[in-house]
Amino acid sequence: MATVLYPGSFDPLHLGHVDVIEQSVALFGTVVVGVMHNPTKPSGMFTLEQRTDMIRASISHLPSVEVIAFQGLAVDAVKQVNAAFIVKGLRTSGDFEVEQQMAHTNQAVSGVRTVYLPCKPALGSISSRFIREIAQYGGDVTSLVPAPVAAEFAILFPSPRNT
Ligand code: PNS
Repeated sequence: MATVLYPGSFDPLHLGHVDVIEQSVALFGTVVVGVMHNPTKPSGMFTLEQRTDMIRASISHLPSVEVIAFQGLAVDAVKQVNAAFIVKGLRTSGDFEVEQQMAHTNQAVSGVRTVYLPCKPALGSISSRFIREIAQYGGDVTSLVPAPVAAEFAILFPSPRNT
């Protein structure tokens, strides 16, 4: 068994992310969820602290998972927590293109490897971006996110559908 780092922006965590965390626990043992800034997504809806709190509340059924917010590079976070490698979830071939480029670059600059896990097909269309968009316009995202995240959206965007 190993410790692995699952980095992401998690703005917010959704059920596809939870699936990857659960798969990682089953396969590798200990998972550090690294809440990080994605330089290609400059403005977040939730602060790193809010995201971290929501993830902790959502994975409380998984004792071998730790949630930490990191500044800087994912490969430095790997070394900081003594992880064996990075884990990433794949939904589509589009994800693969982006992830493969990051994995190659991370390995080239640090030697840190990345392992991909395909998410459950039923969860393959969920994205944090669409969740933010739906919630902002008063839509119901409760089928896409864990209950603690849905509760946070209900506070942020009170609407008849969310109360
Ligand atoms: O959930 P996301 O937004 O797809 O996660 C992307 C994330 C945060 C894992 C990526 O942007 C990242 O690794 N950020 C930390 C900075 C870093 O290591 N950059 C080098 C990438 S090769």
